[in-house]
Amino acid sequence: MPEFKLDNHSVSFLEGQTIMQAALEAGLYIPHLCFHPEFKPHGSCRVCIVHTNGRYVSSCTTLAEQGAQVISEQAEVQRQRRNLLEMLFIEGNHVCPSCEKSGSCTLQSVAEYCGMLSPTLPFQFPQRKVDASHPDTLLDFNRCILCELCVRASREVDHKSVFAISGRGIQAHLVVDSADGRLVNSLFASTDRAASVCPVGVILPKHKGFVEPIGQRRFDLIPISRQQEKAD
Ligand code: SF4
Ligand code: FES
Repeated sequence: MPEFKLDNHSVSFLEGQTIMQAALEAGLYIPHLCFHPEFKPHGSCRVCIVHTNGRYVSSCTTLAEQGAQVISEQAEVQRQRRNLLEMLFIEGNHVCPSCEKSGSCTLQSVAEYCGMLSPTLPFQFPQRKVDASHPDTLLDFNRCILCELCVRASREVDHKSVFAISGRGIQAHLVVDSADGRLVNSLFASTDRAASVCPVGVILPKHKGFVEPIGQRRFDLIPISRQQEKAD
């Protein structure tokens, strides 16, 4: 099989695999947010950047190449990831200490892995709504990082296209496909794949807040870098 080097590790791959796919199969972690092995790569968050062939690329969308040297665990690469993560934290309202997802939040865990402990940029404190219309599921738009995992899950697995991103740049935001934009009037069901895919605390189940105590949650127990990708 062809091979490339990821930092000091030799990684074999199948033709057509991306750097991310090959790394995950080899049990090697590259930080990422919008990539999930169940769905087509999206390439939007850029947190999975690596350095190869003289440039920075997103590892979830770049094909593995025979003999390539790929740098991931390097100070400059981590610094760039921290910048991207910092922007995600300041452009939303994440409020980690009181978030139901704290301890099982991918954004929080990736930030910890990359050493981004508190933002240095000013918080934007955007005005965003909460949609509590659905009997079983809450939408807290304050935390959306626009990864489009729910969009892809609803479209590709649930075949409903309940979620979409509207607007561009700083105006981009998640919308629900229903006459009044509320979840209760959409085709969404709490059993949908889209209901359990959100890496942060936007799409949350009702009626079971803080069932798992803080400190005993998924990433509290085992760091994200040591967990194979699995469904939430
Ligand atoms: Fe991603 Fe969650 Fe926002 Fe959907 S709601 S785009 S899964 S962060
Ligand atoms: Fe690769 Fe988001 S994980 S761009």
